[in-house]
Amino acid sequence: MHESEIIDRFTLPLEVIIRVCRREDLPALEWYGLMTEYRGIIQETFEMQERGEAVMLVAEVNGFPAGQVWINLVLKKDEAMGALWAVRVFPFLQGRKVGSRLMEAAEQLLRNRGYRAVELGVEKDNPDARRFYERLGYRESGTAQGGFTYTTPDGEEITMPLDEWIMRKQL
Ligand SMILES: CC(C)(COP(=O)(O)OP(=O)(O)OC[C@H]1O[C@@H](n2cnc3c(N)ncnc32)[C@H](O)[C@@H]1OP(=O)(O)O)[C@@H](O)C(=O)NCCC(=O)NCCS
Repeated sequence: MHESEIIDRFTLPLEVIIRVCRREDLPALEWYGLMTEYRGIIQETFEMQERGEAVMLVAEVNGFPAGQVWINLVLKKDEAMGALWAVRVFPFLQGRKVGSRLMEAAEQLLRNRGYRAVELGVEKDNPDARRFYERLGYRESGTAQGGFTYTTPDGEEITMPLDEWIMRKQL
C-alpha cells in the first residue's frame, strides 16, 4: 500500500451557528493553547459584553467556538460607528466562508442597533485579510501606528506594536 493512497473519503454535513458568546465558551476560545496568552483580553472583552459595551459573536461548529468577531459598541458611538476586532477562524476551517458570515452577522447586529458605519484595523503584513475585508465592501480610510498591551496568564506584560490600515464600510 502506498502512503498517498486514499482509504476513504466522505463529506461532513457541518452546521455552523453564529451566536453571542457565553461565559462557558471562554476556555474553548483559547483554542487548545493557540490563544491562551490572550486569556486576559478574552476575559476583559467578556466583561465589556456584560456591561453592554461590546458583543462577542462566535461561530459554533460541532459544539466548538471555531470562529469569532468582537464588536466594540462604545469606542466610536458618537459617530454611529461600530468597531470590529479579533476577527478569526480556527485555522483548518479558514477559507470556507465562516469569516464572511461572521462579518455579515456583526454588521447586521450594528444596523439593528442604529449604527451607520463600521471600522476595523488590519495589520499591514496581512494582505490576505485586507483582501477579505475589501471583498466585503470595506475601503481604506487611513492608517494607524500604535500598539496594545496585555498580561499573559503567567503575569508577563506584553506590548504588541501595531502598524495598520484602517478600513471602513457604510452600513
Ligand atoms: C481572515 C479570516 C477571519 C477570514 O475568515 P475565513 O472564513 O477564512 O474567510 P472566507 O472563507 O469568508 O474568505 C476567504 C478569504 O479570507 C482571506 N484569508 C483566508 N485565509 C486567511 C488567513 N490565514 N489569514 C488572513 N486572511 C485569510 C483571504 O482573503 C481569502 O480569500 P482568497 O481565498 O481569495 O484568498 C480567517 O482567514 C482568519 O482567521 N485568518 C487568520 C486571522 C486573521 O488574519 N484575522 C484578521 C485580523 S484583521
